[in-house]
Amino acid sequence: MQYKDFGLVNTYEMFANALQGHYAIGAFNFYNMETFAAILGAARHTSSPVILAVSESALKYMSDDILMSMVRGAKINPREQIALHLDHGHTYEACIHAIDLGFSSVMIDASNLPFKENIELSARVAEYAHAHNVSVEAELGSLRGREDENTYSDDELYTNPDDVVEFVSRTNVDSLAVAIGTSHGAYKMKTENQELRFDILTEIIRHLPEFPLVLHGASCIPQHLVQIINENGGNIQNAHGISPKQLRHATTMNVCKINVDSDSRLAFTAAIRQALTEHPDMFNPREYLGLAIKMVYENTKYSIENIMLSANRL
Ligand code: G3H
Ligand code: 13P
Ligand code: ZN
Repeated sequence: MQYKDFGLVNTYEMFANALQGHYAIGAFNFYNMETFAAILGAARHTSSPVILAVSESALKYMSDDILMSMVRGAKINPREQIALHLDHGHTYEACIHAIDLGFSSVMIDASNLPFKENIELSARVAEYAHAHNVSVEAELGSLRGREDENTYSDDELYTNPDDVVEFVSRTNVDSLAVAIGTSHGAYKMKTENQELRFDILTEIIRHLPEFPLVLHGASCIPQHLVQIINENGGNIQNAHGISPKQLRHATTMNVCKINVDSDSRLAFTAAIRQALTEHPDMFNPREYLGLAIKMVYENTKYSIENIMLSANRL
């Protein structure tokens, strides 16, 4: 199937508009019907373009058929500006599989490979993707830190601004994920107010003006959600994210895609923990999952309106 058959769009137009308007498109990860409904609902109710992001492991969890049935069932109209994006595709095969399934955008993440091999693999994916009018993101530099590590990451490998022109021109990719101090998961910052490396971002833009840049690992880790989790039997300590202020600043510096997964995970978990603690007699999953949808919806809506600044852009 072609992505156009699902009413999806690639990211060209949304990034061009975001670059010009100094805002970002949120790329929100989802992995089940509840997170899909919450994120799509938040984008629709705010009239915002959105990127629905699916990691390789999330695709495996949902299965090709269930995912694409949900997307078809959403009856998406191209005027809504909704992209379905493979997040962190690690192999050529994974990216090609997603494109053939109906994804409108893919990320080839070869950032752990040596520079030349990263170029080679990213260029091969871009060639196939462009033949299908699918947009491609690649990554230079690397972000450490995983969701299940109970520690902040302190071994980032920042993007080298001297490499970006060669990388983009030789791969022909459409957007570039850069490493300027963000990292995946809930333990990304040593302190609450740690600064991103805007000096590196400035240098990248000097070499690569007018080019769409992407921030991974950009969750804010809202402290009220961490508190709800901890007050209801959870144990998440010293978790800090990127401040909304820094993210908004990044959107004025060619960052036109901001990736969020951990915040939705926290919202989902907070709602369920709270519901089950407050209502020990509750055992109908639709009741607590309904509350999880609401919490993820509210957090996504907040992010679209106050961080991405992408509301009412259709
Ligand atoms: O950047 C990674 C995303 O948070 C996806 O993580 O592979 O556990 O779905 P995942
Ligand atoms: P967070 O872990 O900060 O939400 O990052 C998500 C991400 O980068 C998905 O690609
Ligand atoms: Zn990521």
